[in-house]
Amino acid sequence: MNYAGAKPAAATSVGVGDADLTVVGGGGHVGIPLVLAFAEAGFRVNVHDLNRGVLETLQSGRLPFIELGGEALLAKALGQQRLVFTTSPAEISRRGPVIITIGTPTDEFFNPVRKVVQDCIDALLPHLLDGQLLVLRSTVFPGTTEWLHDYLRRRGRDLKVAFCPERVVQGQGIKELKETPQIVSGITPAAEAEAAKLFSAIAPELVVVAPREAEFAKLFNNAYRYIEFAAANQFYQIAKSAGVDYRRVYDAMKRNYPRARSVPSPGLAAGPCLVKDTMQLAAFAQNQFSLGNAAMLVNEGLVLHLCDDLRRRYDLSRMTVGLLGMAFKADIDDTRASLSYKFKKALAGLVESVLTTDPFVTTDPDLLPLDDVIGRSDLLILCAPHSLYRELDFGGKPVLDVWGFLRKANVIS
Ligand SMILES: NC(=O)c1ccc[n+]([C@@H]2O[C@H](COP(=O)([O-])OP(=O)(O)OC[C@H]3O[C@@H](n4cnc5c(N)ncnc54)[C@H](O)[C@@H]3O)[C@@H](O)[C@H]2O)c1
Repeated sequence: MNYAGAKPAAATSVGVGDADLTVVGGGGHVGIPLVLAFAEAGFRVNVHDLNRGVLETLQSGRLPFIELGGEALLAKALGQQRLVFTTSPAEISRRGPVIITIGTPTDEFFNPVRKVVQDCIDALLPHLLDGQLLVLRSTVFPGTTEWLHDYLRRRGRDLKVAFCPERVVQGQGIKELKETPQIVSGITPAAEAEAAKLFSAIAPELVVVAPREAEFAKLFNNAYRYIEFAAANQFYQIAKSAGVDYRRVYDAMKRNYPRARSVPSPGLAAGPCLVKDTMQLAAFAQNQFSLGNAAMLVNEGLVLHLCDDLRRRYDLSRMTVGLLGMAFKADIDDTRASLSYKFKKALAGLVESVLTTDPFVTTDPDLLPLDDVIGRSDLLILCAPHSLYRELDFGGKPVLDVWGFLRKANVIS
């Protein structure tokens, strides 16, 4: 079914046959900024997603999640009839490139699940034409692009396969797509050239490499970031176990010292990408990615370390503890793989009650208003450093702030 044709909305007069390109997973966190960037560049985009609800939200002019600057671009794209919405593979556009931005999870053993990509391709393939450009943009296990090319060949199909990874920060994709060099790779020179031409319409700079190099570059980018967070979290733990205030150490390390500029603050390193991609790399390296595995132990272990520390300092069993910020990071509404929920679970067995709040998250019925949580809690924990918490004083109640973020709170660290 062609969604655009189903409702008398702005895009009704544009059919899927008019689309210049298709974004598969176009209603997702990577898909939406990409769709809007191409629409802004003048393309008519087929926004293809299995999630009908997300497409309806977009079609009504709203974003399903926070994406800075997204609503204005969406309104413009709808007004200019640049978007078509489809949910069925049979409606995929046979005209123009197809870009895959679906989720690529790891399984319970932290191994990549290639079947997700394979199932998606199997569903689309009967509706694609030979010679069409097929771009993988999801983060993939090294070798997936070559595998896809061979897979298509074995089925007697001849599409141009490319891998052009997404590297923007979630929630700020629209801004970052304009500023971030785009890594481009293709299995054949023709695929590479066509992908480069496509992305030159929205990216400020292209970095053209081989598919395997592009796959590693994306995974190394994320694993490096995850290891940086782990280093910061371990420094914090070492200083704390020595009875030293890490905030003061952190300031001494960084102030006007260029080589420490990039040292991040300690904090909950969570979300759907960093740990998953580090573990994909570990799986690729036969679980011999010692730095990556160590980073996971440190980052995932921070919550338990903090619980242990609080248990030594307070009689938690009589306390109500409030968690501030349930999103996986600051100023977004996404709770996927948020360590705030690990905190909630770990504390549940230790304290009288746990209360949670978040100004952005809309998907958790247990959340309470901020004032309620502050008023009813004996102790607060800053889980996600949302900007609006920065200047609050929390009524003098103790707040555990690993991040070193709060200005006016009665901070314990
Ligand atoms: N979220 C980020 O900031 C970010 C940044 C860089 C890279 N990535 C990578 O991008 C990929 C997508 O991540 P995301 O956060 O956008 O995921 P997401 O879950 O937000 O979006 C994926 C979308 O794909 C749709 N979908 C799934 N299977 C489909 C299919 N077969 N056909 C059509 N639609 C389908 C889903 O309904 C969903 O809307 C992952 O590989 C991720 O690792 C994510």
